[in-house]
Amino acid sequence: MTTSKRTKMLVMIVFIVMGAVTMSVSPQASAQQQQSSFGGVVEEPFAVVLKRDKEAKARVMAEHQRLLDARYDLSRRVDPNVKMTRGKPIPVGPTARLKGVTWEQLGKMSPDQIKEKGVFPYLPLPHIAHPVGGMVFPQAEVKALARLERFDMDFDLPEHFLPEFPPAMFLITRPDLGDVSKGQTVTIDNFYELFNGILNPKQLDGLRLLLTQFPQQQFNATADRKTEKPDGMRGVTCFDCHVNGHTSGATHLAGDVRPQEFRRRIETPSLRGVNIQRLFGSQRALKSVEDFTEFEQRAAYFDGDPVLASKKGLSILERGSQVHNMAEFQELLDFPPAPKLNILGRLDRTKATESEIRGEDLFFGKAQCAVCHTAPYYTDNLMHDLKVERFFKPRMEGGMMITAQGPIKNFPLRGIKESPPYLHDGRLLTLEDTVEFFNLILQLDLAAQEKKDLVAFLRVL
Ligand code: HEC
Ligand code: HEC
Repeated sequence: MTTSKRTKMLVMIVFIVMGAVTMSVSPQASAQQQQSSFGGVVEEPFAVVLKRDKEAKARVMAEHQRLLDARYDLSRRVDPNVKMTRGKPIPVGPTARLKGVTWEQLGKMSPDQIKEKGVFPYLPLPHIAHPVGGMVFPQAEVKALARLERFDMDFDLPEHFLPEFPPAMFLITRPDLGDVSKGQTVTIDNFYELFNGILNPKQLDGLRLLLTQFPQQQFNATADRKTEKPDGMRGVTCFDCHVNGHTSGATHLAGDVRPQEFRRRIETPSLRGVNIQRLFGSQRALKSVEDFTEFEQRAAYFDGDPVLASKKGLSILERGSQVHNMAEFQELLDFPPAPKLNILGRLDRTKATESEIRGEDLFFGKAQCAVCHTAPYYTDNLMHDLKVERFFKPRMEGGMMITAQGPIKNFPLRGIKESPPYLHDGRLLTLEDTVEFFNLILQLDLAAQEKKDLVAFLRVL
């Protein structure tokens, strides 16, 4: 062989080896290099994923716990005298940990000063394992419905910061009945017994569908799933998250955003009072409960990815009958009674404490809450951009890009004490935290007593 031939051979061998190395890089690794709007449809064997995820679970949970512990004091502090409808005491805060400043000092600082010092206590909250995401159900719920357990992660926030489980259920058509769930978790097994004779046949059928499992990204029959349970492979029901038409506090990532690290963690909103609302979804702004019902299961269940949906089991609901019946039932769900509010949704001052009265005056006056949260339901049915990014520098934390999030739906405040944690992502664990948050967002510089009074008012809504 001549030298030049040998060189050619060598060059060829190098190319072949390089080619082999490139091809052996896993599809996941190359997907990470090049961002795509689509998820992968090629899956690894289930047993491989199961083993790897189970081995990694303790580390995944510990890492997220460190983030939570750095941000919050998660110990149990509740008000034994203020309870949700079925008797769970409400959590008391503020829970956010301050870094070398007091609440009072923070209240006097400008957004720029807070940003410069890096002391904003209410950053966007990442998912438990943000790069993976997906539906995760609280412990009390998994205890009751074992099919909702995931093998790769558990829910993160302690029980005392969540709505009661199961919550009460009120119907606008039958307020005389009080809690129609009778203290039970309404499921496909007991709904007929509980509701036959109370609902009309159309509404009964709608409720049945809301309690029927449909395949979903993590709960489905393919190898790309996060459940080991055969009944978990049948999917989830609408009321797995919206338990009894309210919320269990279950979380996932909104399907609306790409890439993954920009997606928002979203806490399940209550369906109580959807009848008086006009926009649905924190950012999607769908215009009817029918639209949301039709698309929640088609799109949000699969991260907004129709390719994966058709792989894992898309169930197209028929608009004129199924979707309509499901929506009709949801429109019956009422807020819990608020005995201290009059028919205008304002405080009945003959029944109110001094602190609640001062709180209402602040809410409609100095604190400006009522500019957006208007009576009687305490929503203006719009979206608002609170520009929270004024208070922090963008950065990656917990696998999430902490940055500007844009306008978000203004959720109603009626019955608010029954649905902690607060904000679309649940980053505010208590009502005290919501008041501290808005004190900064609106630069109100409220005194300690004024904050207490505002909380007292929020508790009666
Ligand atoms: C992971 C648990 C989960 C399941 C299961 C689920 N939802 Fe939701 N639901 C949510 C979350 C989270 C949102 C907020 C979405 C957003 O902010 O974009 C939501 C929003 C909604 C809304 C709009 C509420 C509002 O205040 O804007 C409706 C209506 C709704 N869901 C109905 C349904 C129906 C019908 C089903 C079954 C087909 C269903 N949901 C299944 C978690 C769930
Ligand atoms: C500029 C409009 C605006 C003003 C003023 C305002 N809010 Fe809000 N409020 C919102 C929006 C928008 C959200 C939802 C934000 C999110 O989820 O990220 C919200 C959410 C909340 C929540 C949580 C709701 C839930 O279901 O999680 C509470 C509690 C609340 N506001 C209380 C107050 C109080 C108290 C004040 C006055 C100190 C106030 N708000 C002033 C727009 C406003």
